[in-house]
Amino acid sequence: MTSLRRAYAARRFTEAYEQAMDARYAVTRNQADKPLDTQALAKAAEGSEILFCCLTEKITAELIAHLSPTLKVIANLSVGVEHIDLEAARRFGVHVLNTPDVLSEATAEVAMMLILNACRRAYESDHLVRSGQWTGWTPTQMLGLGLTGRRLGILGLGRIGQHVARRAAPFGLEIHYHNRRQLPAETEAGATYHTTSDSLLRHSDIFCIAAPSTPELKGFLDARRIGLLPKDAVVVNVARGDMVDDEALIDGLKSGKLFAAGLDVYRGEPNLDPRYRALPNAFLASHIGSATVDTRDAMGFLLLDGLKALEEGRRPHNLVV
Ligand code: DGY
Repeated sequence: MTSLRRAYAARRFTEAYEQAMDARYAVTRNQADKPLDTQALAKAAEGSEILFCCLTEKITAELIAHLSPTLKVIANLSVGVEHIDLEAARRFGVHVLNTPDVLSEATAEVAMMLILNACRRAYESDHLVRSGQWTGWTPTQMLGLGLTGRRLGILGLGRIGQHVARRAAPFGLEIHYHNRRQLPAETEAGATYHTTSDSLLRHSDIFCIAAPSTPELKGFLDARRIGLLPKDAVVVNVARGDMVDDEALIDGLKSGKLFAAGLDVYRGEPNLDPRYRALPNAFLASHIGSATVDTRDAMGFLLLDGLKALEEGRRPHNLVV
């Protein structure tokens, strides 16, 4: 591919990433930083060779077709690419880059944050103090679940899942997982493999979703599967909200079947099911898995490295299409 010049940045990014982007390309950017709908994006990005975007942009086949006379690369700042029509990108010869690996540790930290906060009732405890309703320590107040000796079931022991496991083990959690295929012993690092997700669910005191959102996993955590979890299980999601059936999870949290949930991602976010807000046993974060300056910089630089590789005729390791 020859060198690229004109680019459109659909959101504002970190300072270092924007500076590096501007040093290499002629970038027009969405200064208002409000997500653009497909029509507005089509108009704004017209004539660009590179589209710098992220998971807030729905990259449809129509958009790709519209931009395809000039568009060469979609440089997407997230590892998840379910918001991009990859088939259309392939058809129109547009490359797609994403940001694997560099966000795994930050996301695993948030998984641990959710596990701890959900198990130890952090939201309720914080609220008790802030609301002025705390009347002092009692032997039976705010009793939560300790981690030591509990089983953490990870759906998707991939890049992020492995970092979660590495952090969770020193807390005394026993690690279980399900992947399509069992991992080699050195990667498993003592975790117990379950050949089916049903078996994993039955053995998960804490169930953590860390798998990519594929069409087969949409609505995965439904009422039947929640029914397989042990009583007082905790559900954690750092992957994508569309893998959870909200109705079933909310029922489980209300009925006492589940002890708590820790969620960073939601179906239809930021417009999540409003019933979550009223649940004291749901610890809710605002999709902050990769939200550190270092990580967001690293994600941006990885995309710039990928672009450089493409321009030099090499295959970048973060090439999706
Ligand atoms: C991703 O990369 O897919 C994350 O959800 C963004 O933090």
